[in-house]
Amino acid sequence: MEKLLLIDDEVDVQYSFRRIFDASDIELHTASSGEEGLRLIPTLQPDLVLSDIRMAGLNGLETLRRIRQLDPQLPVILMTAYGTTQTAIEAMKLGAYDYVLKPFDVPRLKLLVASALKAARDTRQTVALRPQLEQQDYDLGVIGRSAPMQEVFKLIGQLAASDATALITGESGTGKELVARSIFQNSRRAKEPFMAINCAAIPENLLESELFGHEKGAFTGATAQRPGRFEQCHRGTLFLDEIGDMPPATQTKILRVLQNGTFERVGGNTTLKVDVRIIAATNKPLEEAVSRKEFREDLFYRLNVVRVHMPPLRERRGDIRLLVDFFLRKIGGAGAGTKSIGEKTLAVLEAYHWPGNVRELENVLRRAVVVSKGPALLEGDLPGELLQPTPALRPIAGPAGTAPAPIAPSVPPGDAVAESTPPATEAVSTDPTLTGDIRPLVLQLFRWARLQRGLKVLPAVERELVIEALKETQGNQVQAAKLLGITRATLRKRVDKFGIRRELSVS
Ligand SMILES: Nc1ncnc2c1ncn2[C@@H]1O[C@H](COP(=O)(O)OP(=O)(O)OP(=O)(O)O)[C@@H](O)[C@H]1O
Ligand SMILES: [Mg+2]
Repeated sequence: MEKLLLIDDEVDVQYSFRRIFDASDIELHTASSGEEGLRLIPTLQPDLVLSDIRMAGLNGLETLRRIRQLDPQLPVILMTAYGTTQTAIEAMKLGAYDYVLKPFDVPRLKLLVASALKAARDTRQTVALRPQLEQQDYDLGVIGRSAPMQEVFKLIGQLAASDATALITGESGTGKELVARSIFQNSRRAKEPFMAINCAAIPENLLESELFGHEKGAFTGATAQRPGRFEQCHRGTLFLDEIGDMPPATQTKILRVLQNGTFERVGGNTTLKVDVRIIAATNKPLEEAVSRKEFREDLFYRLNVVRVHMPPLRERRGDIRLLVDFFLRKIGGAGAGTKSIGEKTLAVLEAYHWPGNVRELENVLRRAVVVSKGPALLEGDLPGELLQPTPALRPIAGPAGTAPAPIAPSVPPGDAVAESTPPATEAVSTDPTLTGDIRPLVLQLFRWARLQRGLKVLPAVERELVIEALKETQGNQVQAAKLLGITRATLRKRVDKFGIRRELSVS
């Protein structure tokens, strides 16, 4: 039985707690002061403490502070009738599990106690991640053990040893900039400047002057001569991020620098020569931009000398554990502040499909560390969308392009179902509570659809729904139509349209 220790100097409160937790499977113990509570804790070893804030002697905040010294993991809920924002902030900073106002809403109090006890149980099962990484991994900051990341590391090494132009491709948040920096740091240019410029973030008319500089009077507002990035970066490394968004005129100029290191400032005639190593990155398929004539083919080949492709995180799930370990240490700072993570929480992170890749993982962890109330991150600390994978949509988690292949049971030949069943209407239920439930599913669906190039969401979903409805009703079209909220005639049209009958008769 789990033990709950109530610290409150009011007899009334103690009495109502006894009534509230009377029939439950919780063993209630009470103390009338902070001092008494602190004396009891070592022998009683409660699973949860609820403490009043305003008490004679030690107040609740001070009691909490001392409990933390005794036991950093014991969840403590603070209660008060006189809530101020400051006390609430202070309580959470001190590591309270939660902070509640009196008088209590009994069902909510029970829920809170239950969730705190569950958190305590999960925390006990938590193992701090073993340090699996060598110090040098942390210094480099590019984490990964998976086969595709090993390839990336090899390329980083090769590129660091050379002066070749490199093109880094991959989805957003996969670490393209990080890799560019790591190539630079390990190269012979490491002591020279490194500059990053995001071609998509700078307005078209300013990009050229940003890169190549301008002469005084070159355009309105050019009140003085200004050197551009290429000049500033002489002997160094220039990272051209989102190069796919570079306007054609600028592409031409870049090509020339790549070919012979020369350019002119905007509005100038003097030809300048620089020694700059270029690393470019893009999350757009440049080959397609080339075939659409939006990106110069000659520039593409010039950049593509060495290509580093960053694999999406969902294709190297084995790295998630390492990255979690790395980020928790990074977020926690040196030593004591580092949170651990439960196996179940880790499993959720490993199952998610991470459309925003490593950046998204880092953000999720940063948020979780802020909202988590104990020393370990629990499932409840993760954003809801990670926790509610819809079984029906599981293919999301699979590699992009895998076609969901449901096997539906056979439909009776000729569909021998009595026609007398009243047809279902096609009206759509717009119950707002239902729509609210569906929203997360829809969002997940769209994330998935984005990964499947050229997919038409509505027909794809419709087809799946029809198949599932038929499965659900053992192939009974009338019932399936009813379930879907469409008429049987409409269902039949869909069955024909999507070729479902054919598929069913095969199985
Ligand atoms: N393998 C990794 N190990 C450690 N941290 C990583 C790794 N990959 C990415 N990160 C971190 O994730 C974040 C995003 O990485 P980065 O900015 O390099 O991605 P990107 O591919 O350039 O994304 P975008 O296309 O959106 O610009 C950064 O904070 C980076 O440090
Ligand atoms: Mg980037």
